Amino acid sequence: MYLYPLWIRLWHALNAVLIIILIITGISMQYTDKDSLVFIIDFAAAVKWHNVTAIILVISYIFFVIMNIVSGNARYYRINRENLFSEPGEQIRYYVSGMFRGEKQPFPVSMERKFNPLQKLTYVLIMYAALPLVIISGFGLMFPEITIAKLFGVSGFILTDILHITMGFLMTVFLVIHIYTCTLGAKPFSLFRGMITGYHEPDEE
Ligand code: HEM
Repeated sequence: MYLYPLWIRLWHALNAVLIIILIITGISMQYTDKDSLVFIIDFAAAVKWHNVTAIILVISYIFFVIMNIVSGNARYYRINRENLFSEPGEQIRYYVSGMFRGEKQPFPVSMERKFNPLQKLTYVLIMYAALPLVIISGFGLMFPEITIAKLFGVSGFILTDILHITMGFLMTVFLVIHIYTCTLGAKPFSLFRGMITGYHEPDEE
């Protein structure tokens, strides 16, 4: 089943590399002392890499949103509000128990349903909530003059920083869980192969 057209594979590979660079340079800036302690890379280099990578990420994100709409891939991201929690709940139940009892996938992959409800919910939250918030707060940190001076007596810059770090942390947690859930296809490397070849390997024979 051809589920991942070339543009998705190229965008996804670039996006993964960029996010990994951003996480590494972000953690490095967090723990590197300007004068003495260097964690991973020195502060000035981390700032430069972080900023350049972030600008490329913004361009690649705009490309993703436009192509998702133009190509029709956006339909896989549409959430049915009625089953907002029940369907992802069913998928979680499968992951924590059903899967180990040899039960069948509750939401098998098809041309109409590329993602199970839990994947869909997390992809929507990451691509349309966390990533935009990271980008917007990142702009605020890059251009402090555009951030609100004070909100409820607290510096707008610090609030923007907290938002940026929190979203960055959530993206990192997402990445770890994402890579783990991508091992739960027909075979441990089936989904990774799918993202390289474009073809999804069927879950059950
Ligand atoms: C080394 C890092 C990564 C690996 C190995 C990886 C692996 C994969 C694989 C195997 C799939 C296809 C399985 C599926 O349909 O869910 C996938 C899809 C996806 N991944 Fe990743 N991923 C990585 C990083 C990321 C990051 C950083 C993001 C977002 C910030 C992301 C967002 C997505 C999205 C949105 C899809 C669905 C794309 C679509 O078909 O519309 N991935 N990933």
